[in-house]
Amino acid sequence: MLLSIESSCDDSSIAITEIKTKKLLFHKKISQELEHSVYGGVVPELASRLHAQALPKILQSCNEYLPHIKAIAVTNEPGLSVTLVEGVTMAKALSLSLHVPLMGVNHLKGHIYSLFIEKEVQFPLTVLLVSGGHTQVIEVESLEKMCTVASTMDDSFGESFDKVAKMMQLAYPGGPVIEKLAKGANRLRYNFTVPLLQNKKIAFSYSGLKNAVRLAVEAGNEEDYPDIAASFEHIATKHLTYKLNKYFQNHPPKRFAIVGGASANLYLRAEIEKLLTPYKVQLLLAPLQYCSDNAAMIGRVALEMYDKRLFTPIDALHVSPRCDL
Ligand code: KG4
Ligand code: ZN
Repeated sequence: MLLSIESSCDDSSIAITEIKTKKLLFHKKISQELEHSVYGGVVPELASRLHAQALPKILQSCNEYLPHIKAIAVTNEPGLSVTLVEGVTMAKALSLSLHVPLMGVNHLKGHIYSLFIEKEVQFPLTVLLVSGGHTQVIEVESLEKMCTVASTMDDSFGESFDKVAKMMQLAYPGGPVIEKLAKGANRLRYNFTVPLLQNKKIAFSYSGLKNAVRLAVEAGNEEDYPDIAASFEHIATKHLTYKLNKYFQNHPPKRFAIVGGASANLYLRAEIEKLLTPYKVQLLLAPLQYCSDNAAMIGRVALEMYDKRLFTPIDALHVSPRCDL
């Protein structure tokens, strides 16, 4: 069995995966949403302290598996350095005490493999990764051959939902809150500009849209919030589908997937499905419980790495907060 740990942001999670069957035997996650909610976003130092409490608690509840563990996997990049360090320190301690090797796992790869928990992988694959830290299009050929072909120039898709929710003094994370508020409201009432419409680059930007929403929030009152949320969600999504459509003209997808915390957004899912109709390609989605950060997806990458004996020596396992794929 493999034991995997995730602590790159505000979720503490541990999973146990069976090597032979790829089965997820244990998975537990403690989220810190409530604790960060009062601040309208993640406070790194607080997150770090909460991981230090939560990870040992989760580990205690899977004690029975420890004699069967053959390797420890841990997210070591990218993420918040002070929270990544909590998981990495625990992973190193476990590796030393159980005498098993370590694997440093890239969090973005984790999101991609969230599609294949208890399933065989399906590559090649074009992926839209939308989370709190990332908005990127990735061409995936294999575990070791992944290439980012487009990314955001400023805020990420999920982060823009968080910031809009904060402007309206709503809870963190903003994604589910804004999605709920937008449901049934008028998406066309506020004519926000689609970002980078005239720009030929396949890239994303959410800071301009965020500022336009801020002006609408300041000019309106609480009764306008549902329409503002709906119009924002509409334009934020249109920006993605417009740029993807442009990209597909030269790079038609063979298979397409949306991953990351914000891939739970149903309006986004529906709009991407519409976009894919003429290409007749399959849309892969992770089960809702594996869209946001979790250790099961890290364990799924670890199964592939274990197969290839891609271990990381203990003194070479560092955290890389800003690393890409
Ligand atoms: O993948 P994730 O759990 O953490 C990172 O790796 O960043 O993604 C969290 C992000 C947050 O910004 C959250 O607001 C966003 O995903 N999110 C959503 C939805 N659910 C979560 N954004 C839009 N619509 C949603 N339903
Ligand atoms: Zn994530």
